[in-house]
Amino acid sequence: MSTTASIDAGTRSGAVLNVSLVGAGFIGRVHAQCIAAHAATRLAAVFDTDESAASALAARHGARVAGSLGEITGSGETDAVVIASSTDSHGEIARACARAGKPFLCEKPLDTHRDAAVETVRYVREAGVLAGIGFNRRFDRQYAALKRAVGEGEVGRVEMMHLTSRSHAPPTLDYVKKSGGQLRDKGSHFFDLACWIAGERPTEIHAAGACLIEPRFAEYGDVDTAMILLRMPSGALCHLNFSRRTAYGADERIEVSGSGGRVESRHPIPVDVALYRGDAIHQKGLHQHWYERIESTYPAQLAAFVEALEHPGREFPALIDGLVAEAIADAGMRSLRTNRPEPIDYEFDV
Ligand SMILES: NC(=O)c1ccc[n+]([C@@H]2O[C@H](COP(=O)([O-])OP(=O)(O)OC[C@H]3O[C@@H](n4cnc5c(N)ncnc54)[C@H](O)[C@@H]3O)[C@@H](O)[C@H]2O)c1
Repeated sequence: MSTTASIDAGTRSGAVLNVSLVGAGFIGRVHAQCIAAHAATRLAAVFDTDESAASALAARHGARVAGSLGEITGSGETDAVVIASSTDSHGEIARACARAGKPFLCEKPLDTHRDAAVETVRYVREAGVLAGIGFNRRFDRQYAALKRAVGEGEVGRVEMMHLTSRSHAPPTLDYVKKSGGQLRDKGSHFFDLACWIAGERPTEIHAAGACLIEPRFAEYGDVDTAMILLRMPSGALCHLNFSRRTAYGADERIEVSGSGGRVESRHPIPVDVALYRGDAIHQKGLHQHWYERIESTYPAQLAAFVEALEHPGREFPALIDGLVAEAIADAGMRSLRTNRPEPIDYEFDV
């Protein structure tokens, strides 16, 4: 089974692609910069429920400010949409794009609830609109090389996978409230990477979590620290550990070991210089912000999305991949509550 779907048929070819943006927060600003910098795309319009955020971002890139979502989806000027608003708004905006026949790239996770995510995917499929999910980490050079090594049998039969994601600092409470929880918000990226690299979907998840960093996350039913075990159909075991804070920068790494060897991603060091003095070796540490670690993946993701629009059938993370991650997160949230392994249900009927 392949966990990488191709997004459906493209809708246009040639000329400059007018891309509009919904959401002008942290990641909206990243997307706007990528759209402005890509030779084949232009930032057409920006909509955000916070009008001042939309105005400031539109002004920076010479784009139009949209006064409503309808002004984006109803505009003949918009060829495609990037959805970069808070997670709890993704479903409504994705469905509006589908209704209007606008292809879109939606930030992860698909939604804050599995059932709502299924509804959205069903709706978009019925509309026949091209849609992708923002699993940008697939465009990281280390992770792509690691997948290649596993796929080419360099480690033999996979027995164990370890995925670590520890951010430098926790998000705000307002962000957490709308995020769907750490297992969706952070987890969706890494559940997707685990499936993508292993080429199979886990059947069972056992998750343990705690609020060790920010006790107020518990008010939203969330955790800031989690350890997770996935059981793969091949028998391989996969361990993930997530933290919302480190005292040493952004810590992301993946290791896969098997019957023939072990492959691991290394931390790209921002300035790779070592100073040898006395009995010590001093060198620069990790990127200090998670964004710096994966900055290069965003332009690569946009370029691949444009390719997928231009060339039907080109590979790009599809909404169904988002749904798979959502199903794993959903079962993980259940496991957090029951403190037992939980089966993962992929019966989406979409
Ligand atoms: N792929 C990645 O690496 C990555 C990184 C960070 C965030 N994200 C995802 O991007 C999304 C936004 O995260 P962020 O960090 O930019 O959050 P943010 O809080 O900085 O920005 C969210 C923006 O969305 C706007 N918004 C909320 N509801 C809206 C609606 N209905 N219509 C239009 N605008 C609306 C808010 O006013 C705000 O400006 C989240 O889904 C998050 O999971 C992805």
